[in-house]
Amino acid sequence: MIIEILSAVPELLNSPFEHSIMKRAQERGILTIKMHSLRKWAINKHGQIDDYQYGGGAGMVMMCEPLANAIDELQLEGKFDEIIFVTPDGKTFEQKDANSLSLKNRILIICGHYKGIDQRIRDLYVTQEISIGDYVLSGGELAAAVIIDAVGRIIPGVLNDETSALTDSFQDNLLAPPVYSRPAEFRGIPVPPVLLTGDPKKVDIWRQEQALDRTKKRRPDLLKD
Ligand code: ADE
Repeated sequence: MIIEILSAVPELLNSPFEHSIMKRAQERGILTIKMHSLRKWAINKHGQIDDYQYGGGAGMVMMCEPLANAIDELQLEGKFDEIIFVTPDGKTFEQKDANSLSLKNRILIICGHYKGIDQRIRDLYVTQEISIGDYVLSGGELAAAVIIDAVGRIIPGVLNDETSALTDSFQDNLLAPPVYSRPAEFRGIPVPPVLLTGDPKKVDIWRQEQALDRTKKRRPDLLKD
């Protein structure tokens, strides 16, 4: 899968994909991440990519031309399967969105800054508008990093133990059950005895019960479906 990012501040994304699972996915050739600086398509030699908004008001708007020229040029290599704009007024990102994006071949994520991007780019090019939560970040880059991490880790072949993504929280509308490692007792608190029985059926049932219990207590909204 190829994920391309169009950003006014690509440096913000220098490190999130250079470690751990994202690094391994790229080394294995399963995931390619391409960063593009929007300044490359600036309208003048001063690197201008934003301007005042019509109608007045505080905050600059990212202009049409740099964005349209960038997207057009990047699409000379072939059309993107999705062009995503990350924005607090988008649809809230969920596990099922990560799952479906992980099946695409090539996507573009546009990161906004300032007051956002000219509406005409959203109308003409953007196929999905995604928010990572009800709060406002200073730019879309961290939101893009969140989405890329959530998508990248579930591309088949990325995780060592493929089943581990299937047991993540949210994959079956349940939060994940608690997990324990050594020692068997820590500060007087023992590991639940069922986990030491070596009986996978009993362990499975216990985990299901714990997941359901935790979901009921913390996220009853997930159980409505
Ligand atoms: N840009 C700024 N805030 C954001 C958010 N919450 N989600 C996605 N993109 C954003």
